[in-house]
Amino acid sequence: VASRRQYHEKVLDHYSNPRNVGSMSKTDVDVGTGLVGAPACGDVMKLQIRVDPSNNTIADVKFKTFGCGSAIASSSYLTQLVQGMTLEEAGRVRNTEIAKELCLPPVKLHCSMLAEDAIKSAIANYYTKNPKAQSTDLSGT
Ligand code: FES
Ligand code: FES
Repeated sequence: VASRRQYHEKVLDHYSNPRNVGSMSKTDVDVGTGLVGAPACGDVMKLQIRVDPSNNTIADVKFKTFGCGSAIASSSYLTQLVQGMTLEEAGRVRNTEIAKELCLPPVKLHCSMLAEDAIKSAIANYYTKNPKAQSTDLSGT
């Protein structure tokens, strides 16, 4: 039955072979940690970035998601997307971009929102630990 086919093949690919799963030491000064939850379903996503302070780019990304297939696929895709981006660029990634890539249906849009929230939260955490990085970023724009 066609209606049973809930997930697009790109979601299944990321779900069965998630990229960049893992975690980093939260206490490292060059690591930003984002931990967010989706009120709609209770799913939780942890996303961490390691930043190269010489140019404010994302040198490494890791995630752990306790959630549905779309949430896992969204975070897996996001880690690939933001790798090598500046913090400023990564902060502009929108969930709609993720949803489009993975062909998420409307009912699964909040799963990609979790990924957007997670990267924003990781960047904010990095800036809290490295206030000077933020002023460098802002003056550069
Ligand atoms: Fe069940 Fe998200 S609602 S996994
Ligand atoms: Fe809630 Fe996917 S169903 S994150």
